[in-house]
Amino acid sequence: MYIKVLTLFPEMFAEVLSASILGRAAEKGILSVEVANIRDYSTNKHLKADDYPFGGGAGMVMMAQPVFDAVAASTPARKVYMSPRGKLLDEALIRSLAAEEELLILCGHYEGMDQRVLDYFDFEEVSIGDYVLTGGELPAMVLIDAVARMLPEALGNEQAHLEESIYSGLLEYPQYTRPAAFEYQWQTLEVPPVLAGGNHKEIHLWNYRESLALTMKVRPDLFRKYIQTVKPEDLTKEEKKILAECREAFELEDNESD
Ligand code: ADE
Repeated sequence: MYIKVLTLFPEMFAEVLSASILGRAAEKGILSVEVANIRDYSTNKHLKADDYPFGGGAGMVMMAQPVFDAVAASTPARKVYMSPRGKLLDEALIRSLAAEEELLILCGHYEGMDQRVLDYFDFEEVSIGDYVLTGGELPAMVLIDAVARMLPEALGNEQAHLEESIYSGLLEYPQYTRPAAFEYQWQTLEVPPVLAGGNHKEIHLWNYRESLALTMKVRPDLFRKYIQTVKPEDLTKEEKKILAECREAFELEDNESD
């Protein structure tokens, strides 16, 4: 996959793109990210890229000319503008972006972008959440990271358990690593015995119950969606029993809070 980023702050991307899984994806040739500086396209003698908004108001607006030329110098691709007024970046949108061969991501800064850029090139506006950041650079990095881990082979075998369909839409169960008993000051902090026991079936059922319980407690909206969409034919008898128990506890609590 090829991603081109247009920004006024290209230096913000280098560390993030070269570290960890993103760096490995680049090395393996799975993902190639090019970051271009919008200011390089300014025809103004001071390389100006922002100006006061028509009609007044606080802050500066990114000018049409440098952004038009920066977009025109890029190959045709699905075009995304990072903006708090965009569509929320969720799993479905990430999957659909990851299916593209090429993406062009435009980052705004200051108070916004001359609207003619967005209209003319028909940019799709994408938000990472209901809060306002100082620019689109961090959101662009969030999007790139989320898309990269969907690309086949980017994660290696780390992705394996997430692909089990019964976990899709649930929060992840807690994980532990050695030692099974960790001494901290005067306490011994133990790993749940079932995990240290090595019975894979028991471990799987424990994990499934933890995932359900956590999702129920922290994200009742996701839990409700899960019970509506999970396919009974994907569940074993034991899994069905655990789901039924959690569902009963959930509905009981739901009624009490009404
Ligand atoms: N730019 C500023 N805030 C943003 C947000 N929440 N999502 C995407 N882009 C942004």
